[in-house]
Amino acid sequence: NESISELLDRLCAVVADYPQPGVSFKDLTPVFADPQGLRRLVDELIAPFAGQFDIVAGLEARGFVLAAAAAYASGRGMLTIRKAGKLPREVYRDDYTLEYGSASLELHKDEIAPGTRVLVLDDVLATGGTVGSAVRLIERAGGVVAGVGVILELEELGGRANLGDHQVLSLQKV
Ligand code: PRP
Ligand code: MG
Repeated sequence: NESISELLDRLCAVVADYPQPGVSFKDLTPVFADPQGLRRLVDELIAPFAGQFDIVAGLEARGFVLAAAAAYASGRGMLTIRKAGKLPREVYRDDYTLEYGSASLELHKDEIAPGTRVLVLDDVLATGGTVGSAVRLIERAGGVVAGVGVILELEELGGRANLGDHQVLSLQKV
């Protein structure tokens, strides 16, 4: 009966000085690779939002792992919010800054019916730049953000404060 925190402590790999000196990088790939790990994470992420969302949005790239599994498990569809230049049709584009640079996310213009409730999933909430960008895209496209779920929240970076009133669930604060 291992808790989610215990599971993360056991499987999450901590990499010193990556990608820059002084940064302690939390690598979730061993959790994804574990036969129970991915299922435990996804079940915990979607349970508090049960019945409150119509579609799951995954943020490229690491958010795709969680969102695809969450969409499958909850019987919903999945939105792919992608790095710039990857989607073939008309997109909304949003520029944002992240911990180690800047980037842009895009969302196809026609994939959300007005009022669709969207659950946003990503692996890590750091500065909140990435999730904040996704929230803006979803709202521009006519969707309503039902909530945000992440595995790890790097609390000292204050990402939650950048997400306004949206409900944010993190499985572990580090
Ligand atoms: C990482 C991580 C989150 C984001 C968190 O993604 O997967 O999406 O940074 O940082 P923020 O809260 O400061 O925006 P990254 O853009 O490095 O790329 P990847 O998911 O494609 O690996
Ligand atoms: Mg990412």
